[in-house]
Amino acid sequence: MIDEISIDIAMDVGSMSHRALIMARDMVKPGVKLIEVANKVEGFLREQGYGTAFPLNLSINMQAAHYTPSLDDEKVFGPNDLVKVDFGAEKSGVLGDCALTVDLSGEHGKLVDATVHALQNALSVIRAGVQVNKVGKEIEKTISSMGFNPIRNLGGHTVKAHDLHSDIFVPNFDNGDETALEEGMTVAIEPFATDGRGLVTEDDICDIYSYDIDVSVRNSGARALQQEISKNYSHEPFATRWLSKCVPTRFELYAGIAELSRAGALTRYPTLIEIGHGLVSQAELEVLVEKDSCAILTKS
Ligand code: CO
Repeated sequence: MIDEISIDIAMDVGSMSHRALIMARDMVKPGVKLIEVANKVEGFLREQGYGTAFPLNLSINMQAAHYTPSLDDEKVFGPNDLVKVDFGAEKSGVLGDCALTVDLSGEHGKLVDATVHALQNALSVIRAGVQVNKVGKEIEKTISSMGFNPIRNLGGHTVKAHDLHSDIFVPNFDNGDETALEEGMTVAIEPFATDGRGLVTEDDICDIYSYDIDVSVRNSGARALQQEISKNYSHEPFATRWLSKCVPTRFELYAGIAELSRAGALTRYPTLIEIGHGLVSQAELEVLVEKDSCAILTKS
C-alpha cells in the first residue's frame, strides 16, 4: 500500500511519462531517424529534472519490444512501419511505464485497435482483489475477437520503486494464475497483439542493459564503462549509446559492454521479435489499483 505522498509522486511521474510518450509519438514520421527521437525525448526528461525508467524503446513491425537506437544509429522510420513507442520517466526511484503504437501506413488500424480495446477492457475489470488471470482473460478475449493473437510470453507487471517489473506478472491471456491485485498497488497493463503466432523470442540485437554487480575485468575500456555504469546507472536500465564518452571509439564501447555482460556485471534486454515474424501492436498504461476500480497514472 502506498501512502498519499507517494501517490502524488506516482501521478507526477505518470503524467511526465505520458508527456514524453506523446512527444515521441508526434516525431515518428517516415524519414526521421530513430536516434533523433530518442535523444529528444530522453533529453526532455533530463531537462525537466527527471530520470528515465528505461531507454526509449522504438520497436518496429515484428519487433515487439526492447529496440533502442545504437550509437550513431542511421535507421529511419519507413512509410509502412508499425512502431511501438514504449517509455517512462523516473523520480526518486518512482517509475513510469506507458506505450502506444504508431501506424505509419494507415493500414493496420484494426491491429492497433485490438490492443487499445484490450487495454480498455482490462482496466474495466481492475479493482482490489481481481485475479490476474481474469485481467488476462479480458485481454485475450478482446484481441481474439478482432482476429489476432495476444502475445503470451509478454505481459503487464506490478511496479515498485527501482523495480519496473516487480513480483506480479499480469498475463495477456488466462494462464490460470489467481494471484490477486491489491489496493494501492501500481500496475502496468500492456497487451500485445499480432497476426503472427503470439510468442516472442530474443533477437541478436541488444542495446539495453542494467547493472547487477561489479566484476573484475582486464580491459581498461570495460573498466571505465563499469565505473560510469555503477556511478550513474546502478538502478534503472541504460542504453549503450549513453556511455559513448567513456571510451574513444564505437568498437571499444561495444566490446567493453560485451565483456562486462559476459563477466556477469550486466543483465541484457535483447530486442524481442515475434516468432512467426508477424506484425505486433502494443498499448500500455500504468494504473493505481483502488478499492472498486483503478486510476490511470500515465495520463496528462
Ligand atoms: Co511495461
